[in-house]
Amino acid sequence: MKKMIIKELLGDYKKILHHDITVQGWVRAFRSNRFIALNDGSTMANLQIVVDFENFDKDTISKISVASSLKITGEVVESQGSGQVIEIIAKKIVILGDNFTEERDKTILQPKKHSLEVLREQAHLRFRTNLFSAVFRVRSAVSFAIHEFYNKNHFFYINTPIITGADAEGAGEMFSVTNFDLNNIPRNEEGEIDYTEDFFGKKTNLTVSGQLEAETAAMGLGRVYTFGPTFRAENSNTTRHLAEFWMVEPEVAFNNLENNIDLAEDFLKYVISYVLKNCAEDLEFLNSRFADEQKQKPEKDRAKEGLIEKLENVIKKRFMRVSYTEAIEILMNSKENKKGKFQYPVDRWGIDLQSEHERFLVEKHFESPVVLFDYPKEIKAFYMRLNDDNKTVAAMDVLFPGIGEIIGGSQREERLDVLKAKMQDMNVDEHELWWYMDTRKFGSVPHAGFGLGLERLVLFVTGMTNIRDVIPFPRTPKNAEF
Ligand code: 4AD
Ligand code: MG
Repeated sequence: MKKMIIKELLGDYKKILHHDITVQGWVRAFRSNRFIALNDGSTMANLQIVVDFENFDKDTISKISVASSLKITGEVVESQGSGQVIEIIAKKIVILGDNFTEERDKTILQPKKHSLEVLREQAHLRFRTNLFSAVFRVRSAVSFAIHEFYNKNHFFYINTPIITGADAEGAGEMFSVTNFDLNNIPRNEEGEIDYTEDFFGKKTNLTVSGQLEAETAAMGLGRVYTFGPTFRAENSNTTRHLAEFWMVEPEVAFNNLENNIDLAEDFLKYVISYVLKNCAEDLEFLNSRFADEQKQKPEKDRAKEGLIEKLENVIKKRFMRVSYTEAIEILMNSKENKKGKFQYPVDRWGIDLQSEHERFLVEKHFESPVVLFDYPKEIKAFYMRLNDDNKTVAAMDVLFPGIGEIIGGSQREERLDVLKAKMQDMNVDEHELWWYMDTRKFGSVPHAGFGLGLERLVLFVTGMTNIRDVIPFPRTPKNAEF
């Protein structure tokens, strides 16, 4: 018998009308001992199975309940009822696995409404819910669109190492990688840890960014991107930070800052358009969930646009491009700042922007995605290109409504002498990064790139509000279950 997934079946049912087929999935509902709503994860829609219980043994029927796994063979017919186009008249039903209903009712599979917090504690089961299956289908589509965008634009996908000796961001927020027996760590004569005895013969950590290695690849392949897991041991328990997240990092030889901003804007718009076009059903669901959420909020905190409307507007508008210096002026002169509404007052040029400032610019002042560029050199990483003013670097951050920073990047410092001086100022050891320095010695060229946090983009397109709900198994401080 032809096995089909529900998405295929619903998409192309005319050809198989009045034929027998086999479907498999989990029971979402079983009404009147007659109608099974079957879901196999391929799509939001359930398939209706009509069971004439007189044709089946009572024992089998009595075992079917919510969460049961079934294999059903039957005839595809046009549905009599409203709510679905087709249904299956069951001829054969096989129960595939056990379903302990008493235990099920202690989990989120019990058919009733559960809070997002409870769903998170049972992350291994939440794929079975409408909400999380929609979120993870959209996440998959976003990843696919990312690869498609770079592929269409002649980029090469490279894989940068997860274990590295480098601290690309110079922020020191790294997880160590070692196979030392932690109860018996070798020490040298000075009493310091002797990393020469460690697995790699040196101190290593999980990567905070694949950028430095991607830069070396761009110096031969021209246009590259890396897309992989990234790790930060920053102890920030926020709705925007994960200890393990996925980052996409394009790096392009011969690009300057403006080219870099153009690429970031085209890229975000491409992925969002892709999702609008290819995830319509899931987005409809997320859109109504988003609307329900807004209704729970006090009027002043409600979003001005619906989820789908917001996505459509983002791809229509050109992102605002604003220098750090202009942004500081806007912030300093804002009513919010003067009335002391910011937790971190904006009192001078040179301060690092907090997310409350970024969100003010995006959500209140410009009401549009904003690209901030030319930041003070002191608050940005060593590899960013020094501008002619000697005060700022060719950095850029893309800020999104409801999210804050979604992309961070820059034109890179390609001049060996300037790079060396900056590394010295910022205490980055150039000997450790000898291979990175080499790229500035043999045909160095202007180049630029950026990093997009995948989960922040998925937050934006799904309208979810906690980053823990857009990655299957979140890693955050004090939490590494599953
Ligand atoms: O701004 P960041 O730190 O930039 C870099 O790592 C550069 N090396 C990228 C590059 O130029 N190739 O991080 C880039 C993006 C942020 O804008 C944010 O979207 C995301 O990565 N990000 C995080 N996402 C989730 N949890 C965290 N802890 C994140 N830290 C950064
Ligand atoms: Mg950043």
